[in-house]
Amino acid sequence: MRKVVSVVGARPNFVKLAPVSRELRKEFAEVIIHTGQHYDYLMDQVFFEQMGIAMPDFHLGVGSGTHGRQTGEMLAAVEKVLMDQVPDMVLVFGDTNTTLAGALAAAKLHIPVVHVEAGLRSFDRRMPEEVNRVLVDHCSDILSCPTITAVDNLRKEGIERGVHLTGDVMVDSMQDCLRIASGSASVLEDLGLSEKGYILATVHRAENTDHPARLESICQALAEVARHIEVVFPCHPRTVGRLKAAGLWEELTSRVMVVDPVGYLEMLVLEAAARKVLTDSGGVQKEAYMLGVPCITLRETTEWVETVQDGWNVLVGAERSGIIRAAIDFLPSGPRKEVFGRPGAASRLVELLSASQA
Ligand code: UD1
Ligand code: UDP
Repeated sequence: MRKVVSVVGARPNFVKLAPVSRELRKEFAEVIIHTGQHYDYLMDQVFFEQMGIAMPDFHLGVGSGTHGRQTGEMLAAVEKVLMDQVPDMVLVFGDTNTTLAGALAAAKLHIPVVHVEAGLRSFDRRMPEEVNRVLVDHCSDILSCPTITAVDNLRKEGIERGVHLTGDVMVDSMQDCLRIASGSASVLEDLGLSEKGYILATVHRAENTDHPARLESICQALAEVARHIEVVFPCHPRTVGRLKAAGLWEELTSRVMVVDPVGYLEMLVLEAAARKVLTDSGGVQKEAYMLGVPCITLRETTEWVETVQDGWNVLVGAERSGIIRAAIDFLPSGPRKEVFGRPGAASRLVELLSASQA
């Protein structure tokens, strides 16, 4: 049996790994490396438990740090495991620092790299995720694209070999878990929320949290929106830290229901029952579209352009009045399509990995 190593470390990596790992294990011996980029129970282990992911074979315990230090430590530690394991290929997921470290370590050892969620572009190089995506795509051998736009983006950069339109594995993640998520529906009751009676907010991207003026403007908008409709905000630890440091925490929590991050099943319940979603997350924009919930995105650009083109997502940036207006007035304007492909992306990916000579 051929051996693959999956490298993960952050929340969105785990969500993408779940369906891929399940399919991989039918054909390959899979070894999971966890870099330790995320480590709080609600940012990490809860996903393994809820999504039935096998426990990591190697935990590198790298933790938090500046981009260079964190990525560098992960690179050295992943390399060591790969040299010992000598896999036939290495899988990396999405656009985190873990993704970059895993891809770079493998490419330098001449181990074929498989990038799951390849070809996405926001065309904003100030975003750390964009730098990671571009670099990972350029050192990957097999590129699993969720959308046609992603395939086109790669072609424009001269990458055509190894590119496959598999569809989005997060369609599978959601489909697999929606069935069991009803068992977590009590999260609505626990938080005192009613169906379509609240807005769900998530904010954690560096371009918002690390710019005090943008963070303050978003907080003011959320507080204002909360005068009209309940706002529930599962808050990333990065954001908690920045809000407290900027002196915004007390005011925000007096108006908005700020809670700890929630597990994936609770998140699906909260998304599906929300009247609207307000977010800067990549994954949450997609999930809102798939669930038919209007999305207001707190960014100037998105890599998920189809959600905007189809009228279900609007980019409002961090400007207070624009956010408030959209939260109150924005309504979707057209039908949704199968933008992210039919379910089965994970098995289509594994099928092509089985057929590959890598
Ligand atoms: C990372 C990804 C981002 C992704 C996000 C998902 C990069 C460059 N960014 O951002 O694309 O959207 O994960 O959630 O890889 N922290 C904790 N506990 C944890 C994890 C983090 O307290 O379990 C705090 C630490 O203070 C840390 C900060 O959050 O310094 C940022 O964590 P880090 O992993 O560096 O980046 P994210 O903001 O999580
Ligand atoms: N998510 C979750 N609980 C939360 C916030 C997000 O389970 O409190 C899930 C979300 O449903 C999606 C994934 O985490 O599947 C997205 O991760 P995140 O927003 O952290 O990162 P991004 O997609 O922006 O890289």
